[in-house]
Amino acid sequence: MKTVEVTASKNYRVVIGNALLPHLGDFLSQVCKAQKIAIVSDSNVWPLFGKTVTDALAGYETVSFVFPAGEESKNGATYLRLLNFLAENKLTGSDCLVALGGGVVGDLTGFAAATYRRGIAYVQVPTTVLAAVDSSVGGKTAIDLDSGKNLAGAFHQPSLVLCDLDTLNTLPKDIFRDGCAEIIKYGVLYDEGLFAHLEEKGLAFDRKQVISRCVELKRDVVARDEFDRGERQKLNLGHTLGHGIEACSHYEISHGSAVAAGMAMVSRLAQKLGICSASCALRIEQVLKAFGLPTNSQFSAKELYQCALSDKKRSGATVNLILPEKIGFCRIAPTDITKMEAYIEMGR
Ligand code: GLY
Repeated sequence: MKTVEVTASKNYRVVIGNALLPHLGDFLSQVCKAQKIAIVSDSNVWPLFGKTVTDALAGYETVSFVFPAGEESKNGATYLRLLNFLAENKLTGSDCLVALGGGVVGDLTGFAAATYRRGIAYVQVPTTVLAAVDSSVGGKTAIDLDSGKNLAGAFHQPSLVLCDLDTLNTLPKDIFRDGCAEIIKYGVLYDEGLFAHLEEKGLAFDRKQVISRCVELKRDVVARDEFDRGERQKLNLGHTLGHGIEACSHYEISHGSAVAAGMAMVSRLAQKLGICSASCALRIEQVLKAFGLPTNSQFSAKELYQCALSDKKRSGATVNLILPEKIGFCRIAPTDITKMEAYIEMGR
């Protein structure tokens, strides 16, 4: 078992290991005084782990809220249903939510926890690679609006993140691969050694070591810039175009695949702008391919540009693009939106 301590507006532990779910109640009792716990999950994850988690919380009164799996559920309607469910079940300000699932479950539950009674505690129990290395850590919570992804949200740190690696064994191959885009992202951003391990091992990477390393890297970023005013924006490597690809596909293309394509595109752009070498851009493209992830998009630069315009990372007339300089270091490049269409074309 590995523990990573996160230092932010609220300090908490990320516990990573095997066979952790049956011990959730013990971990939870160390961080909150809840009497009642609402377990929030989706229709894919609940049948797999709902009973284990409910049994693990036998010392508490538990209620469960299960919604249809998929990004299309991460909306205002599900969010309001969840808030009403919490109120009907009389959860108080000292009670707690448990987010059992991937990024959609974690983001939605976190946003409900941030706003129900002006904020109650919640625990993240990530069951996908993407949630384990990225969305469960750092306190970003959100739902999507009709105009774009994650447009309504709040910063609200969890009280605990419990990452049971055994839950990853049940993931469909494409969902597992999808999360690996975020792991590759950490290598490109911060750690050439991690990147080289991924190049060497491919999908057979050391799960405990790699996931722990990504969480440590995220912990460091969150400690330096919890509220996303500077360096944390680097975690959006590949995301501006990635969110555009997701939106253009009406969310048929998954987050990780879209981010992978976005990462390859900004790497080619960085190469053409003379910011990174051809071998750097090629290594990024090759490792994405080795993981079975896409490295380009079928949408035109014009279509992607239109979607990028509604991205929340846009600030006035500029968008902060994250561009690799070398494996292990990227720069934040404020980019005039009038240049975006041409830049996207350069990256295709
Ligand atoms: N997922 C990016 C961040 O947490 O900042």
